[in-house]
Amino acid sequence: MKLLVINGPNLNMLGVREPEIYGSRTYAGLVSFIEEVCAREKVEVEIVQSNHEGAIVDAIQAAYQEKDGIVINPAAYTHTSVAILDALKAVGLPAVEVHLSNIYEREKFRHISYPGMACVKTFYGHGFAGYEMAIQYLKNLLSKGTEDQ
Ligand code: DQA
Repeated sequence: MKLLVINGPNLNMLGVREPEIYGSRTYAGLVSFIEEVCAREKVEVEIVQSNHEGAIVDAIQAAYQEKDGIVINPAAYTHTSVAILDALKAVGLPAVEVHLSNIYEREKFRHISYPGMACVKTFYGHGFAGYEMAIQYLKNLLSKGTEDQ
């Protein structure tokens, strides 16, 4: 099973940016966390971080026929990006959305998620553990698919 994990803008600043919201763990720490979860779950993972909307669209398109599923934290593009929504719809891979913070308890503009409209599930407000939940969710979903074959 091959998963693509995408992290959007400013997540590379974890540990520095608004620690009262996002905690003090760094982006390198997040990458290690995801790699450890995937090693344990026997999932092959590629982790991409970009501050650029088009690069995120490119990464989603590159996953077509290459990956089995996508975990995505689109960060601020969550609330603006129809392009990321369309890219997820275009490749048709099962995608799970993750947010470190509880976006529904924050400003109103964070309550809408465009990419989330193409995702089978969203985990929010669990910090790093949300990525683990997303990976396990996709693993379950994808293994159900192979049982039926
Ligand atoms: C975020 C929530 C977004 O509203 C914000 O713009 C981010 C991070 C989260 O993980 O909680 O950059 O996606």
